[in-house]
Amino acid sequence: MIKRFTFGEPFETDSVLEKPNAEKEFNDDRFWWEDGALRLTLKDDEIVYGLGETIRGINKRGWFYKSHNTDDGNHTENKQSMYGAHNFLLLDGGAADAPKKLIFVDTGVDVHYDIGYSKHNEVYVRPVKPDFDLYVIDGKDLSSVVSEFRKLIGRSYIPPKWAFGSGQSRWGYKSSDDLREVMNKMKEANIPLDMIYIDIDYMEGYRDFTINSETFKDMNELIAEMKKNNIHLIPIIDAGVKAEEGFSVYDEGHKKGYFCTDKDGKEFIVCVWPGECVFPDFINPEARHWFGMQYKKLTDLGIDGFWNDMNEPAIFYSKTRLEDVAKRVIEIASGDLNKETSGQLRNTANSIQNNPRDYDLFFHKKDGKEYVHTDLHNLYGYNMTRGASEAFDELCKDKRILLFSRSSCIGMHRYGGIWHGDNRSWFSHILLNLKLMPSLNMCGFLYSGADIGGFGDNVTEDLLLRWYALGIFTPLMRNHSALGTRRQEPYNFEKTETFKDIISIRYRLIPYLYSEYMKAAVNNTMMFKPLAFEYENDEIAKHVEDQLLLGDSIMIAPVYEQNAVGRNVYIPERMKLIRFSGGKMIDEGILEKGTHFVNIPISDVCLFLKENRILPLAKGGMNVSEVDFEDLEKVYFGNNVKPYEYYNDNGETKDYEGHIREIKVC
Ligand code: GLC
Repeated sequence: MIKRFTFGEPFETDSVLEKPNAEKEFNDDRFWWEDGALRLTLKDDEIVYGLGETIRGINKRGWFYKSHNTDDGNHTENKQSMYGAHNFLLLDGGAADAPKKLIFVDTGVDVHYDIGYSKHNEVYVRPVKPDFDLYVIDGKDLSSVVSEFRKLIGRSYIPPKWAFGSGQSRWGYKSSDDLREVMNKMKEANIPLDMIYIDIDYMEGYRDFTINSETFKDMNELIAEMKKNNIHLIPIIDAGVKAEEGFSVYDEGHKKGYFCTDKDGKEFIVCVWPGECVFPDFINPEARHWFGMQYKKLTDLGIDGFWNDMNEPAIFYSKTRLEDVAKRVIEIASGDLNKETSGQLRNTANSIQNNPRDYDLFFHKKDGKEYVHTDLHNLYGYNMTRGASEAFDELCKDKRILLFSRSSCIGMHRYGGIWHGDNRSWFSHILLNLKLMPSLNMCGFLYSGADIGGFGDNVTEDLLLRWYALGIFTPLMRNHSALGTRRQEPYNFEKTETFKDIISIRYRLIPYLYSEYMKAAVNNTMMFKPLAFEYENDEIAKHVEDQLLLGDSIMIAPVYEQNAVGRNVYIPERMKLIRFSGGKMIDEGILEKGTHFVNIPISDVCLFLKENRILPLAKGGMNVSEVDFEDLEKVYFGNNVKPYEYYNDNGETKDYEGHIREIKVC
C-alpha cells in the first residue's frame, strides 16, 4: 500500500510521474515528524536497506549519510555521500514475519540520514529544506515492497543488447590510432569486446560535441572500422561547456540564455576540464532539450552510446571561490607562520574544489521562476541524462542508445544507467562494487557497474583478474582507469590467456544476464538481491553481505582479498557448484546448506546454481552479435526442475512485450 504525504511546497522533481493523491495529514505507525526530521525507533535486530549509491554496507545501520551528489574520487568509509541521491530506506521490521516499510523522500535538496549513528536504535531523516513529498509503502515482504516502489518511480532504462558485452576504456587514449591499438590487441589476444570508450581526450580542447581535428581526424573511418568489427565507440560528454566566444555550442546557449547565472544575472563561470566553463541549465526544459539535441552531432556519425560525466556538477573552482581563497591565503601567509597557519593554509587551499557553498551562487530558471542551485542540486545530473534520452527519442525513435551517467537521482533510472565513479585499484572496492548492486537495483538502477580494475591507483594483475570475476556478472562491464596509472588493458599482463577465459565466460552468460535484466526491468523486480530477500527465515543468510543472488537461478560469491586461494561461501539451500576454469565449465557437485570453503584460484570463476532451476548458457562469441541466444546449453540439477522464463528480443528496438517464453529441460 502506498501513501503520499506532502510537506511544505515541494519543487517538482518528476521522479514520480503518476502520483497517488496526497493524504491530508502525516501519520504513520512507525515514523513521526519532530524538529524538522522524520524519526523512527529501530528494533534491536532490524536491518535498514536503501540509499542506493553510498559507501559502507548493504545494511545501512550505523552511519551518518548525506544525499548530496558529490564528485569525490576517494570512496572510503568516512565519507557520507557519493555521486547519486537515492532518498529511500527499506526496513525489514526485524523479523521475517514483521511488516516491511519503505520510505521515499522525493526532493532535489540534500537529505541527512542518521541511521543508528548517534544511537544504535534511532533514526532520523532530515531534508535540509522541509519541502518534499514523502511516499510510504507498507507490505509484507521485501521484494514486493521494492516492486511497488519501482512501479511508482517507473520502468528502468533498457540499453541495447550489445551493451551487455565487455567494454575497454581509459582516460588517455589520445588518438584514433590508440583506439585501433586497443581493438587490435584485444583481437590478437582473442579477448571478446563490444565497446571502446573515449574519454575527454577526443575533444577539441575538451569542448563538448567537438572532435579533435588532428588526433581524431579520421573519426569517420575509425567508426566504420570499429563497426566492421562489431565494436561501438562510446564518447564521454561533460556537463561544463567551455565559455568561449566563437565556440558554437557556447554561442548558441549564450544567445538563448540557457546557462546558469549568478545573482546578477550574469553567466556563472567555473573551471572544469576546458578551463572557463558555464553550466547548461538542465532544469529549464528548453535548455535541457537544446543540450540533448547537441548529441546529434555525434549520433550523425553513427555513434550510439554515451557516458555523461562531471554532472554533480563537479567544479574545480568557481571564479568567486578562487578570488576568495587567494585573498585568504595571502592574509594567512602575511601573518606569523606556525603549525596552526599551516593547517589553515591547507584547509583554505583544499576548499577551492567542489565547495558546496558554490552551489548557493548560481541559479536555474523554470516556468518563469528562478531557483538557487542548492535547492535542486541533486536533480542536475539526472536532468542532463534525461535531456539526452529525450533527444534520442526524437532523433533515433525506436532505436535503443547506450547511456549512463555519473551523477543521478531517483527518476534518472528511467533514462540511463550509472557507473560507480572514480573508485580505486583496491581489493576493498571489489566488495563495494558488489554491495552497490542490490542497493541500486532497489531504486531502479539496473544498468550499473564499477570501473573494473579500479579507476585511481595502480592495478595489479591479480586484482584485475579478481575484479573481472565479479565484473562479468554486472550489466555494465567496463575496464576503466585514470590517466597516469599503470596500463590496465588485459593484454598488458602475463596471464592474457586467463583474462581471455574469464571475459569469455561473460559471453556464455549473456543470454541469462540479458533475460534476467529484462525481466527485472519489465516486471519492476531486482536482478541482484541480498540473500535476505529470499531466505528471510535464515539468520545467517540475512546478514551475508559478500554474496548475492543473481536472477532466478544463481548465487555469486566473488573473492575480494589479495592472495586468497578461495573463500568461505554460505550456501542457503542445496546448490550446485559450477566452476569455469581454463575455458571449460566443470560441474563440481552439490553443496548442502551451510558454510563451505571453496577453492577459487585466480584463474577460476565459480557460481552456485539453485536446485531445480535452469541456467541457460550460450556457446560464447567475440562480441554480442556473435552470441547465439537460441542455441543454449541448459545447466540444472534436481528432480523437479522449474521451467526457466526466458526473455529474448532483437535487443535494438523498444518493443518489450511478449518476449518471454518457457525453457524446459525435457
Ligand atoms: C572523471 C570521471 C572519469 C574520467 C575523468 C576524465 O574523473 O569520473 O571516469 O576518466 O573524469 O574525464
